[in-house]
Amino acid sequence: MSSRFVRSHTCGELGVGNLEQEVTLCGWVAKRRDHGGLVFCDLRDRYGLTQITFDPAFPGTAAIMEKAHQIRGEFVLWVRGKVRNRPQGMTNAKLKTGQIEVACTGLEILSEAKTPPFAIEDDVDVSENLRLKYRYLDLRRPALQRNLQVRHRMLSIVRNHLDQNQFIEVETPILYKSTPEGARDFIVPSRLHQGTFYALPQSPQTLKQLLMISGMDRYYQIARCFRDEDLRADRQPEFSQIDIEVSFMDEEALFPILESMVQKLWKEILGVEVQTPFPRMPFAEAMARYGSDKPDVRFGLELQDLSEVFAHSTFQVFQRALEKRPGPAGSTEIRGSVRGIVLPGQAEKFSRKDLDDLQATGASYGAKGLLWIKVQPNGELQSPAAKFFTDAEKQDLAKCLGLQPGHLVLIVADPRNKVVFDALGAIRLACGQRLGLIPPLGEGKPAFLWVTRFPLLEYDEKEGRFYACHHPFTSPRPEFFDDFVHGRNLDRIEASAYDMVLNGVEVGGGSLRIYRSDVQAAMFKILGLTAEEAQTKFGFFMEALQYGTPPHGGLAFGVDRLAALLCGVGPIRDVMAFPKTASGTDLMAESPSPVSPDQLVELGIAVPKKG
Ligand code: AMO
Ligand code: AMP
Repeated sequence: MSSRFVRSHTCGELGVGNLEQEVTLCGWVAKRRDHGGLVFCDLRDRYGLTQITFDPAFPGTAAIMEKAHQIRGEFVLWVRGKVRNRPQGMTNAKLKTGQIEVACTGLEILSEAKTPPFAIEDDVDVSENLRLKYRYLDLRRPALQRNLQVRHRMLSIVRNHLDQNQFIEVETPILYKSTPEGARDFIVPSRLHQGTFYALPQSPQTLKQLLMISGMDRYYQIARCFRDEDLRADRQPEFSQIDIEVSFMDEEALFPILESMVQKLWKEILGVEVQTPFPRMPFAEAMARYGSDKPDVRFGLELQDLSEVFAHSTFQVFQRALEKRPGPAGSTEIRGSVRGIVLPGQAEKFSRKDLDDLQATGASYGAKGLLWIKVQPNGELQSPAAKFFTDAEKQDLAKCLGLQPGHLVLIVADPRNKVVFDALGAIRLACGQRLGLIPPLGEGKPAFLWVTRFPLLEYDEKEGRFYACHHPFTSPRPEFFDDFVHGRNLDRIEASAYDMVLNGVEVGGGSLRIYRSDVQAAMFKILGLTAEEAQTKFGFFMEALQYGTPPHGGLAFGVDRLAALLCGVGPIRDVMAFPKTASGTDLMAESPSPVSPDQLVELGIAVPKKG
């Protein structure tokens, strides 16, 4: 006799084609209805649900009725029985197995279960923290089961695609050294070398470049990355990348490989045709039109530059935004702007509170206010700043924006363009959401694009220094090489960097790399690293560049973000088996947690007492 926890079928496959067959199933009790005489239960496994009937009148069932009455939710059962049609009126068209039931003739309770702290159903309303504490139960929910399966399929399609394109997967270390991706490092103390630390990689960036120097030519890795940064719905401290690097290719050769990979994912998982090649949009255009380097191009409400209209304004807010300010290398220039978006027909539809809410959205990106203008039925402009507008300005504004009665204009002005773009970009999204211009998650046609020509460097006014916009290994575009090596117009240099964007989400980012050690040294210098600092942090890398480095480049996709988009869910924790909370904790295992004093002594670490 076969052991009593082996099954002939899964809970998701039986149908009218199996009528009269004797089958064995295993699974968890999703639901149980005990009618005294008859007992029904829905048995669940990862493949689906099957209704099991304990009917004392059915031949062979009477002997197991006593056990059937003991069944409770989430017990693990082995059942044997005969597939039969459900009684008329009892069929469930929504369920794959909804035509049949299994009339049980053999039952084993393989495991009993405590009453779970919440019902294992998709629409149950309990706090997310409780779910995260009992993540293994939450993962029994069909929605999360499905998400993890989609994620698995996605990675399997990716691996196949890259295999077919001659990529090889290489694993790189987790105990490593700081890698500059702009976040803080997680560090791991060394016991054998007290007082020294490994850093967990923020990405395998330097390692994959070293693999190019090794001649690997086409590399990929489903790589775990660690970044100690402030978390959001689309950011976790530990996440995965489809990390890719290639030699002897430029964007024109690389993009088609990546586009066809994504095309396959949408086709094979969602049955959706995605057109290639993807449109490309320079960073400057994305900012100017959408106020974002990851524009959601599924709707309009584009930003309009009003700086010229208000170049001579007497309104202090506009004046301040358009003042010349000190920039890099002693330059002075206007580094801010006045920009707005127009919402036709909305003048009377936004209440004071709605406008305050939008202002708060802008404020979270540093905007000091949000100016509204309503075009009244007689064409007059109503606005808290109306008294500052000259007739000429009003005319220019009306012409520039094509104003009509009923139009609502929302304006942000700031001495820093970044604030104007970020604030207005977020306000645009909020308005798009409110006006129903953004399809619900998982619906509508996916809008892919490449954002290209990112700036190489970003100037920090407060610190008076440059930062790498992507990372310090990114190459300037060839037409800017000259300026770069001579240190000219550094804030205007464009990088060979690109992001793949889908529906307003940055799903991947990468660049062509610097492959000359002197250029790399120049980059570190521009970023303010002293020669010693560069040597301590990247000496090994700089040396490697001198042993025959092929021109190379690559990109990394965020696995979690891609999976969330394929599953039509928002937060990436819904596509991760064991995610962390917004404050970076694991509620289930209670991590991070203190370690024993002995462990600390062994590591040579002293933790200051609190308080
Ligand atoms: P970058 O930092 O742009 O580039 O990251 C690449 C992609 O990884 C995803 N991502 C994240 N996903 C979840 N949580 C996070 N905290 C998180 N941070 C990033 C995003 C992003 O587009 N080494 C370079 C790549 C390269 O140049 O080849 C890098 O890591 O989807
Ligand atoms: P104030 O002069 O500060 O009373 O502001 C007058 C109006 O201008 C208010 O509606 C403010 O919300 C708006 N405002 C203030 N600062 C800004 C700014 N930086 N950008 C756009 N509007 C602003």
